[in-house]
Amino acid sequence: MSERFQEFHDRLAAFDDRSINPSGNVPMNELIDASRRRLLKKSLVLGALAFLGGGLYAPRRLYAADAPTHSALLGFVGVPVQQDPQFDEVVVAKGYTARPFFSWGDPVVAGSPAWKGDASEDWKAQELQAGDNHDGMHYFPFPEAPDSHGLLVINHEYINPTLHTKGQTFEDRPDGTRGRPEGEVRKEIAAHGLSVIEVKKDASGHWQRVEGSSYNRRITGSSPLDLSGPLAGHELLRTASDPDAKQVLGTLNNCSMGVTPWGTYLACEENWHQYFVNRDKEDFARRTSHKRYGLSNGKFSNYYAWEAVDARFDATPKADQPHGGHVNEPNRFGWIVEIDPYDPSSTPKKRTAVGRFCRECSTLSLAADNRMAFYYGDDTKGEYIYKFVPAGKYDPDDRAANRDLLDEGTLYVAQFSDDGSGRWLPLVHGQDGLTAENGFASQAEVLVNARAAADKLGATPMDRPEWVAVQPGSRTVYVSLTNNDARGKKQPVNAANPRKENLHGQILRWDEAGGDPAATSFQWEIFLLAGEPKGSGAPENLVGTINGDIFSSPDGLYFDTAGRLWIETDYDDAEQPMHAMGCNQLLCADPHSREVRRFLVGPRGCELTGITQTPDGRTLWVNIQHPGISFPASDGKSIPRSTTLVITKDDGGVIGT
Ligand code: FEO
Ligand code: CA
Ligand code: CA
Ligand code: CA
Repeated sequence: MSERFQEFHDRLAAFDDRSINPSGNVPMNELIDASRRRLLKKSLVLGALAFLGGGLYAPRRLYAADAPTHSALLGFVGVPVQQDPQFDEVVVAKGYTARPFFSWGDPVVAGSPAWKGDASEDWKAQELQAGDNHDGMHYFPFPEAPDSHGLLVINHEYINPTLHTKGQTFEDRPDGTRGRPEGEVRKEIAAHGLSVIEVKKDASGHWQRVEGSSYNRRITGSSPLDLSGPLAGHELLRTASDPDAKQVLGTLNNCSMGVTPWGTYLACEENWHQYFVNRDKEDFARRTSHKRYGLSNGKFSNYYAWEAVDARFDATPKADQPHGGHVNEPNRFGWIVEIDPYDPSSTPKKRTAVGRFCRECSTLSLAADNRMAFYYGDDTKGEYIYKFVPAGKYDPDDRAANRDLLDEGTLYVAQFSDDGSGRWLPLVHGQDGLTAENGFASQAEVLVNARAAADKLGATPMDRPEWVAVQPGSRTVYVSLTNNDARGKKQPVNAANPRKENLHGQILRWDEAGGDPAATSFQWEIFLLAGEPKGSGAPENLVGTINGDIFSSPDGLYFDTAGRLWIETDYDDAEQPMHAMGCNQLLCADPHSREVRRFLVGPRGCELTGITQTPDGRTLWVNIQHPGISFPASDGKSIPRSTTLVITKDDGGVIGT
């Protein structure tokens, strides 16, 4: 990893995902049953497996007890960990080919210039080219040829300093604020958002991007989007630039995503707090919608300092401006943006009924009668897992009837009890203390300050919830809890988050009562604790329960149509505790046997994220985000570029077999 790149990521790590949850929430049953809690602590000392396998907490399934040696679902031979510090390629299982398909800077919109190779493009070119840091992604098939022709939608989460030929420029001013060159800021904003590209197999069966397609579009950090739902027009979202609170500019930090049954894409806004500053210490201290989300209250926004160029990123209240200037601008981020990829002229809608937090994903569970739930992780140390149950049902016969289903419904937050049960607590104004006396004057306040409302209800602080995946058929829900080095310090351990200094993370799964996505109770268990094998000699907090190939920090989770669970990792491969894991990886798990096999390793410095397939399961796309050396050129000198890979089996078969 280059020095410049390393410096950027160190800076990012300093602000990203820090614990700001002041609630100290402990699930209610633990408070009541103190003696059982003491027993739990004792069994944690003995090791997580002891109590997960024991009868005391009556888990629904025994850990790996039924695991066969070889899973019928996993047909490939696993690849080894990759520990070469200069590794700059992708290795995929034998019999498969992974090739770079779509990289930062590639042309998207008709008329876009080709990638120059030295990052000298200006912001106007960047608005037409692929953005940076490819993340969540989905393939939308065309019905005439679903397995060979469709649209790929790809999030561009944030930017790397390599976006500019000489990196980012910051001017430290005497008053402590930071200046930025306008051209750099505009280019950074343009490299955020997402891309829609038409993709098609050519006559020889190779996937190609359809350049100049009328479907191709870029949505950036400055594209006009309609505000929709209960906060549209609300005073909490009014600003000097948009006094009606009807139109917001752009979407930021789109991490993972979701898909609706009616074929729209849901881009989720994760670490949006990093783009804003409120310099007024007193105002900040009492403004929950800033403080509880970790906005900067220093002299500049955490590491972008866009406020130097664009006043809407300065959320310091301004008494002389309408609506306090841009103090409400941060309230316009942290939501979901619904995009119809099939209609390139449509204006995306920012949905506000779904609550505001650092949303990783929006994963659908669809009931047989077409009721729905969407699951969300709030990826910050000690934050919560949410679900939204729309009031209406999906109508498979009338696409237009589904248009605004995400504007009305009930938001819930999860409480995990140590006995393996769980509850969904509704975030509804007027109920359970979510009242004006407690700072929630309306449902709008509950939604804007969803974290504080969840604190009040006694939600369970989790080890950084990332992606959620729902198993086809069973509707069992899986979530990756990527890691949490504050566990045991800021948040107490509990059965669902059982390790202090949890550097490797875990995957949890649960079944909703009656298999109903809208149920308000569930039964959960730990699917696996990531980490090194038992007997490896690693410290206890680094030892996991993986049945098969080891990994750390699960992030992307995805079920393919055959029911294989794909796991993508995101850890700092330069850190010593991660050396055993090598480069970041894509693995595949059998949800029944829990066997895990490594399918692909990425280049040094990257994370694996974003995953989608064709309906026939014969094409898989995954993203290599922020590679560290020179991937995909892999020549040791080119600028590294975040890249979508297309993966096929050499015999044309289904991926994973
Ligand atoms: Fe953008 Fe939580 O990963
Ligand atoms: Ca992620
Ligand atoms: Ca992550
Ligand atoms: Ca990332």
